[in-house]
Amino acid sequence: MSNQVYIFDTTLRDGEQVPGCKLDTKEKIQIARGLEELGVDIIEAGFPISSPGDFESVVAISKAVKTPTICALSRAVEKDIQRAGEALEYAKRGRIHTGIGTSDQHIFNKLNSTREQIIERGVAAVKFAKKYVEDVEFYAEDAGRTDNEYLARVIEAVIKAGATVVNIPDTTGFCLPEIYGAKIRYLMENVPNIHKAIISSHCHNDLGLATANSIMAVQNGARQIECTINGIGERAGNTSLEEVVMIMKKHPKVNLHTNINSKLLYPMSRLVSETMNMHVQPNKAIVGSNAFSHSSGIHQDGVIKNRETYEIIAPEEVGVAANSIVLTARSGRAALKFRFKLLGIEIQQDEMEQVYENFLAKADTVKEVKDEDLKELYARHKEVVG
Ligand code: KIV
Ligand code: ZN
Repeated sequence: MSNQVYIFDTTLRDGEQVPGCKLDTKEKIQIARGLEELGVDIIEAGFPISSPGDFESVVAISKAVKTPTICALSRAVEKDIQRAGEALEYAKRGRIHTGIGTSDQHIFNKLNSTREQIIERGVAAVKFAKKYVEDVEFYAEDAGRTDNEYLARVIEAVIKAGATVVNIPDTTGFCLPEIYGAKIRYLMENVPNIHKAIISSHCHNDLGLATANSIMAVQNGARQIECTINGIGERAGNTSLEEVVMIMKKHPKVNLHTNINSKLLYPMSRLVSETMNMHVQPNKAIVGSNAFSHSSGIHQDGVIKNRETYEIIAPEEVGVAANSIVLTARSGRAALKFRFKLLGIEIQQDEMEQVYENFLAKADTVKEVKDEDLKELYARHKEVVG
């Protein structure tokens, strides 16, 4: 089995469903071009039946972007699939992503159906989609809560019908990593034709487990991860692209790789955050504004001596210009000296105690001591000592 994991980005579909994140076609093209440059393998560009605007965006992205596969979502309904197929007409490589709920919750409460009918509908949807594109991905919605034995039957049937990728969504974000990993392993071991398709993970973050679950999936045989920039998506969001990519890049134990150019992760995060007007929490892994800033004295001292003491990723590796030593009342002398040095001011040994005392007095009155404050502090210190 290959060590390559395909990155399927759904920022423009699952991500764009978030209230307030709606984009126009021009903005979607800008993001799609960014994703292409970043190196994603598949861009889920939209849900064409949902609105004329979404249809147009999938057409426009298909024309604008050439390297990644362009994917369009549909339900397991002919008119949806037809619309998705039409929207992909200009895609160099097009994929239809069709599917249906497979958990008892979905089958009996939402779809008012039976397990056997769901398999028939899934098979019919895949066969119908094959009339438009060769590459058909099937999603078993709420697979996270679907009984494994039944799920294996569904997956075997849709692969037989021609599905090239089978998506096992943890739609409600309920699975524990070991349960989700075991589900993927079960499918690998119990679906006789599984080698004819790629298994994909699609995890939601309702319990904060989306990244862990996606990594468990690839460690158990999945070879595609569905994710979004900054982890945006329905409710608590989807798996964060930057997190899974950096886990695979940094952990030799995982021993998997992607086509992503990690140096573009931070610029891409900014682009999505600004276009969608969706703030990134400062402590967000990899791309948050605090991800490479150090504020406690002990950490600052360690990082100044050797970056790797407290950093497992070099900021440049993800496109962040440099780490930052933030000055607060918790900062020590080493950090203060370091920050003065960046301003071209060399603090001598014999003046440090006085400067540090003045610094602490200032730091107790503000959240962060900035460059301007340091310059003022130093000027006042020079005035006093002459
Ligand atoms: O979360 C989910 O189940 C989905 C499917 C439509 C793939 O987004
Ligand atoms: Zn989803």
